[in-house]
Amino acid sequence: MRHSIVAGNWKMHKNAHETEDLLNDLIEKLPSDKEVEIIVAPTFVNLSSAVQHLEFTNIGVAAQNMHQAESGAFTGEISADMLKNIGVDIVILGHSERRSYFHETDALLANKVDTALKHELRVIFCFGEELKDRQNQQHFNIVENQLKDGLFHLDAKAWENIVLAYEPVWAIGTGETATPDQAQEMHQFIRQTVEDKYGREVAENVSILYGGSVKPDNAKEIFSKPDVDGGLIGGAALKADDFAAIVNAV
Ligand code: G3H
Repeated sequence: MRHSIVAGNWKMHKNAHETEDLLNDLIEKLPSDKEVEIIVAPTFVNLSSAVQHLEFTNIGVAAQNMHQAESGAFTGEISADMLKNIGVDIVILGHSERRSYFHETDALLANKVDTALKHELRVIFCFGEELKDRQNQQHFNIVENQLKDGLFHLDAKAWENIVLAYEPVWAIGTGETATPDQAQEMHQFIRQTVEDKYGREVAENVSILYGGSVKPDNAKEIFSKPDVDGGLIGGAALKADDFAAIVNAV
């Protein structure tokens, strides 16, 4: 069901001690009475301890990635079953850093989505255009194709476990943010694209997050847009005060 979500993607930051410190800080500073789902995504090696640490809190834990196979000779990889087994229920897939640095294609991501859903993991599916795409007026096409190729093989029921995260690549970690109007324009387009394929109910029920240099000082305006249901936060998720301010901006 569509609801507000703020998720912090910690990327390759925070060792075990730093993870514990940040989690303690978050427990102290994050609101416990707001109608917003709060998620943090530490690195693989700290997921298990994060799950235990956050057990009696309102903060959920997500993985930043997973492999598409059930198991096998895939050195260095992590399976869906391994995540579920330690109590992780959410996985981020398709982040632009996975797409660009690790060459993850839409076809591969469709495969990962299937494996994740089979194991009853909820998926935060990321997608978004690069700067050149926007300059060439191709941003709507690119986003539509990422959505179709990654997710449109699913049946309507599967969408109950999908969260979308629109992240224009040119706004990630750059300090450059899509304007609230640009974000709304794209989110509306995304919701319409989902509606064209699956109908109004599915489209109205999917949460669509914005990601890309969301900070305490711009969060409120971005989140106030009708089709923006929260954010996927990178840099600002690494400081408890900033992350709490962003959660409070919902
Ligand atoms: O996953 C989060 C996004 O990549 C946004 O990162 O807030 O550092 O721009 P950022």
